[in-house]
Amino acid sequence: MDDYKLLITGEIPLTGDTTVSGGKNTAVAVIPAVLLCDEPCVLDNLPDIEDVRVLSDILLSLGATVTFDSVNKRMTIDPRGVTSCTVPYKLTQKMRASYYLLGALLARCGEANVGYPGGCAIGNRPFDQHIKGFQSLGAEVTEGGGMICAKGSLHGSTVFFDRATVGGTINVMLAAAKAKGLTVLCNAAREPHIVDLANFLNSMGGSVKGAGTDTIRIKGMPHLHQSHYAVIPDQIETGTLMIAAAATKGDVTIHGCIPTHMEALTAKLLEMGVSVTDMDDAIRVRPIGPHRAVNIKTQEYPGFPTDLQQPMSALLCKAQGNSMVTETIFESRFKHLNEMLRMGAHVRIAEQTAWIEGVQELHGAPVTVTDLRAGAALVIAGLMAAGTTEIYEPGLIERGYEHIERKLRHLGANIRREPV
Ligand code: EPU
Repeated sequence: MDDYKLLITGEIPLTGDTTVSGGKNTAVAVIPAVLLCDEPCVLDNLPDIEDVRVLSDILLSLGATVTFDSVNKRMTIDPRGVTSCTVPYKLTQKMRASYYLLGALLARCGEANVGYPGGCAIGNRPFDQHIKGFQSLGAEVTEGGGMICAKGSLHGSTVFFDRATVGGTINVMLAAAKAKGLTVLCNAAREPHIVDLANFLNSMGGSVKGAGTDTIRIKGMPHLHQSHYAVIPDQIETGTLMIAAAATKGDVTIHGCIPTHMEALTAKLLEMGVSVTDMDDAIRVRPIGPHRAVNIKTQEYPGFPTDLQQPMSALLCKAQGNSMVTETIFESRFKHLNEMLRMGAHVRIAEQTAWIEGVQELHGAPVTVTDLRAGAALVIAGLMAAGTTEIYEPGLIERGYEHIERKLRHLGANIRREPV
């Protein structure tokens, strides 16, 4: 239970300039990837968020030397002292991406014993495709006592994923980067953070080709050398800020982002009647007229991202007309809409589809955060609502958004903390 709640007094248009932080889902892949290296690495543009701090603790527990300068967003990791290949459950249960330690430690030590991962409760989250990939590379994988153990001397192989999986693609890329010979990943995920991880591995002397397409070829390298690398900006934070600007009919320019990563969201905002202007590394969002309802179906990249479905469906609660939102990636990603019923939203949910009838006004109410992106969605709901919204369990939002309250306040939002 968090000892504070967030209070948001809504209906204030956000205005001004803000800068997006480094990508969470990239950072959580690139940090474990340093374990593949034989020398120290410097990572820049890391977001100062809970998941990054947890990974730093995990690397320290393994014997690495880690320093994080949260002002300059720089982490220095020296993996040479790593003596352990075991990560206990008490550390892994704090986040989903702790399962990347399996691929990274397997590559480094030929053995990994990692507790089951935690992460957001957004549905059943199997990792059979990760295990299938490790087995295909020659690892023996066993499970028991809350631990997953993978062991073996790895060799290149062809892995055909039954479905595109971000985590599976990243984990098998990590394992394959030092395996003997060529690994080919078919039906691989194409998200920008997969390209970023490939770029990082290549910056250490790795050989990864095809990232960003559905076929990735990895030639294993026995040694990887030091690298100084900056991770890409967070496309989900960028999208959340774009939606927040639209939700308040504000005029906001988001700097430091990559507009081409945002095309699915930009297209939907334009379809709703929001003005979106792309610049080299910035996006400006302004109102033009009333928001129209639109239909959304989440898909793998470059389709509409599931991580933005929650903030976007919050926005649609005040659009003119009826929207249909279909979630195809995770089965429990509508909990924020149930909370928003208390704020006057008109929503009906049946299995993987939410039917949203836009209302003229939402009103502040007490609501509870159930997962990271639900938290972002409820912040957006609060920004749109008349009166004051009380958001309980807001700590979950800090897992993935750096200084979100400070950023929104800077844009004029009335958002504050109060003890509970
Ligand atoms: N799946 C399987 N078997 C597997 C792996 C995945 O059936 O072995 C299924 C999942 O159940 C899901 C689908 O495949 O239905 C896609 O899952 P994916 O593996 O792509 O998701 P993930 O790696 O668990 C990452 C992000 C999520 C993001 C998804 C989809 C990280 C740490 N997490 O999760 O981010 O929603 O990809 O883009 O990168 C978030 O940031 O809030 C978040 C949940």
